[in-house]
Amino acid sequence: MRFNRRQILAGTAASFAVIGGNPEMMQAETASDGFVELKIQKVPRVILEGGRETRLWTYNGINPGPEIRVKRHGQVKVRLVNGLDEPTMLHWHGIRIDNAMDGSPLTQNPVEPGETFEYVFSAPDAGTYWYHPHIGSSRQVEHGLYGALIVEEKTPPAETEELTLVLDDWLINDDGTINQQAFGDIRMAAHGGRLGNWFTVNGKSRPRLAAPAGRRLRLRLISCANARVMNLQLKGAEPYIVALDGQPLGAARALGTDPLQLGPGGRTDLMIRRGADEIILANLNRANEPLEVAYIDRTGDQGAADTGDIASLPGNGLAKTLDISGVAPIELVMEGGAMGGLAGAKLRGRDVDMRELVQNGMAWAFNGVAGMTEEPFASLKKGDTAVFDFVNKTAWPHAMHLHGHHVLPLTVDDKPVTSLDWRDTVVMAANSRMRVAFVADNPGKWMLHCHMLEHQAAGMMTWINVEI
Ligand code: C2O
Ligand code: CU
Repeated sequence: MRFNRRQILAGTAASFAVIGGNPEMMQAETASDGFVELKIQKVPRVILEGGRETRLWTYNGINPGPEIRVKRHGQVKVRLVNGLDEPTMLHWHGIRIDNAMDGSPLTQNPVEPGETFEYVFSAPDAGTYWYHPHIGSSRQVEHGLYGALIVEEKTPPAETEELTLVLDDWLINDDGTINQQAFGDIRMAAHGGRLGNWFTVNGKSRPRLAAPAGRRLRLRLISCANARVMNLQLKGAEPYIVALDGQPLGAARALGTDPLQLGPGGRTDLMIRRGADEIILANLNRANEPLEVAYIDRTGDQGAADTGDIASLPGNGLAKTLDISGVAPIELVMEGGAMGGLAGAKLRGRDVDMRELVQNGMAWAFNGVAGMTEEPFASLKKGDTAVFDFVNKTAWPHAMHLHGHHVLPLTVDDKPVTSLDWRDTVVMAANSRMRVAFVADNPGKWMLHCHMLEHQAAGMMTWINVEI
């Protein structure tokens, strides 16, 4: 099923407006008090082919949840209504907002069943973001709780159509039920996390979408997968990367023939020239075979050949370089997991051996501590430039995510990166190291964790404190 503006408007009260337009995606509705209400509801939906239903957890009955759109510097006002029988909360991934609205256990109490919580913040950066729960994330996100948050540029690219593509991989049984045994499975958590067996784009299996051939096409890719690092291919297009994790690149960069790596939580904005070719989005499996996951028909007349430049997007004011002279790097040693040889770690203030860690559902440690730490990993003053060295001493890749800030990866394995790009979620290869820098300009308590949600739950999380 596709939603267009008419279908959204039909059968609803008169007291709201529909913002923006991505014709393929259900847009959020704003009530007369200015709030978008996101009500968690469990509903059966067909995501498997062949009609078997899956009981999803949804915002407002749909997967993905409604797309929320605001203009840059506009206000986001969301009322979360918890219709689950367990606590939840909403995190706004990647957006540099007021700490009190970050929706992590460091900044708010859980929203209990039947309760509501109002999130109000202004959106400082144009770009592609998303929202998801931040407690019980492995279960809640896997059951379908997530949606896109799109902050539009004041002047969006001209003559350009856009599509948001929310990508997910689910671990689903043949009867359509979401695999429950794997939740809390320590073996899975100690390996690559919950890797799915069923792929959806905008909540559908292999959807066929449409975009006009006579306009350029901006794709906003968002990975809501629990743990899979996607390697995407676009046949029928020569895409340019124009933004990563919401932040525009200084110059558009041709994707070329390499697959596009998209880690859990990551976003990439692509710009594609006018053209009539069908675009096939595929994800490479472990054998490097493309699994087709979505199709975009380009309809109508292409018009004159599109040979013009691909312009960069207007920046959000983040500097392209940082002066890190005199800044002492702070090291985050990442250990554990299968084949990691971790002997033990601190758990809730006590030294425990690996057996006891595993009994407590833990398999990983940051600087020798498994699970959330009492003390912040780093205490910074507002305006400080910080340098973190992530040292991945594990046999697994990880997707490191810092809340409330974007970071600039500087080196990988001590070699300078080929391009300086601001990120909020960085994929690190097994047994590698990465140096990142950023200005701690957003006061508050911010989580730093692996976005492979089972790794996070099994120990890979800490936080930083930025004092005013
Ligand atoms: Cu997308 Cu701490 O999360
Ligand atoms: Cu990880």
